[in-house]
Amino acid sequence: MTRTHSRRPIVAANWKMHTGPADGAELARAVAAQGLPLDAVDVVVLPPALGLSAVAEALRGTRLAVGAQHVHWESHGAFTGEISAAMLVGLAAYALTGHSERRRLFGETDRDVRRKARAIHDAGLTPIIAVGESLDERDGGQTEQVVRAQVEHALADLTPALTAASVLAYEPVWAIGTGRTATPEQAEEAIGWIRAAVGALHGAAAAGQVRIQYGGSVTPANARALLGREGVDGALVGGASLDAASFAAIVQAAA
Ligand code: 13P
Repeated sequence: MTRTHSRRPIVAANWKMHTGPADGAELARAVAAQGLPLDAVDVVVLPPALGLSAVAEALRGTRLAVGAQHVHWESHGAFTGEISAAMLVGLAAYALTGHSERRRLFGETDRDVRRKARAIHDAGLTPIIAVGESLDERDGGQTEQVVRAQVEHALADLTPALTAASVLAYEPVWAIGTGRTATPEQAEEAIGWIRAAVGALHGAAAAGQVRIQYGGSVTPANARALLGREGVDGALVGGASLDAASFAAIVQAAA
């Protein structure tokens, strides 16, 4: 594939609430054994917090990165059940925020996402910031304004340089876990809107450098078509990432 820019593809495995320490480490080892094209693609696995240490240990010495699915925006304090980005230093290189499951099921707001994106950077980690519209919003023709507003909130506390060093993920809510993937054209269009929103907020250089993934029912069967589109810099994979060979096939499609 010829690319008109220098952004390195990034594919992340969001294991969601699957795997504990032992089976998580086993899955991580299976992923690492797949012969991934790591010269060409950044690969990140996002296990549940409980398994972060075991997975990081299993991947020590490999070029696979580990990330958290969720962090608090403060570095420490009386926040029962939470973990902070600062606590992940040495363990994880990435942290996800803004995922629609967190927004919808756990009340994560745009303001939370903004604070978390900043906290993740402040800890020296890279945020993967997810945005995306619901089916009603898409059917109502509001996708562009919805993702623009989410981007504006999420990046409000970041500098252009921190924005350029972030990863964004376009995850239409209606495509997550439904088997209903966005078409490559829809993914390209929405990612174009997201990149334009980044540009309007933090300038053309940041917009040109920030990597934007597509997520939502990505499989080995559809990955090549999605990842071949202009501006689609990788994938955020849920269900298909729980099978090492399937995930590897998606990483290959990004290379
Ligand atoms: P699925 O790949 O299972 O649709 O999940 C996508 C997702 O939410 C990744 O963060």
